[in-house]
Amino acid sequence: MKSEEVFRSFFKTKSSLVIAHRGYSKIAPENTISAFKLAVRFKADMIELDVRITKDGTPVIIHDSKVDRTTNGTGRVKNFYLWVLRELDAGSWFDHKYIGEKIPTLKEVFDAVGGKIPINIEIKSASIKDKLTEKVLAVIYENEIADNVLISSFDPRVLKNVRKLTDEIPTGFLYHYPIYFNPVRTLLNLGANVLIHNYKFTTPKLVEKLHNAGFKIFVYTVNSPNHILKMLEIGVDGIITDDVKLTRRILNSFNQT
Ligand code: G3P
Ligand code: CA
Repeated sequence: MKSEEVFRSFFKTKSSLVIAHRGYSKIAPENTISAFKLAVRFKADMIELDVRITKDGTPVIIHDSKVDRTTNGTGRVKNFYLWVLRELDAGSWFDHKYIGEKIPTLKEVFDAVGGKIPINIEIKSASIKDKLTEKVLAVIYENEIADNVLISSFDPRVLKNVRKLTDEIPTGFLYHYPIYFNPVRTLLNLGANVLIHNYKFTTPKLVEKLHNAGFKIFVYTVNSPNHILKMLEIGVDGIITDDVKLTRRILNSFNQT
């Protein structure tokens, strides 16, 4: 399937998607198997997660470049061998009941929740040397899950590289600031399917411009009821949130009015 077709399939009958930011990270430690399983259980439409690479070249799921905030260890992810990283506790910083939770590999995520709902994989490193993008694609294809993932990045070089390697996997361009460039031309240049924007700078005009050109827009990270409602009112296609249940409730009542 082509990336456009795969991307369209994520919507099925839905107009806007509820996307679990780092899993259901309001109630479980971010980027862990527990958080991903809870996202599925609470009926998120998509999981968002962050991928980095270990010293020995395995894609692992963690947001920060260092392990310090979300584990009981210290140091840079890229300086850890996988087996050492796996000794760390990635759950007890959040709540004692998650003690023993590990930093998952990308493969483990696919084994646990792959194919249940689509997974938005944010690639955090653009280094050509570590070949993270190539390795992520290899895990995706080994697990035969190309029709259930979306790759996103703040770095246009990552998205260009993905497009050079495959036209089957949808991509999203992440942007954190107000937009002073032509977003349609940018998405076309990158071969991307969706703009993923900081909701604080998302305007009705931007949404309209992208929709008129056949593109979608997701916004991050929206957690307050007022902001969730405002984003639905301006017509965004996906809300990346820590609070799956709240966002689902607001979306349901918005759809009924
Ligand atoms: O994908 C949206 C959002 O996850 C980007 O910001 O810092 O949470 O990875 P961050
Ligand atoms: Ca992210």
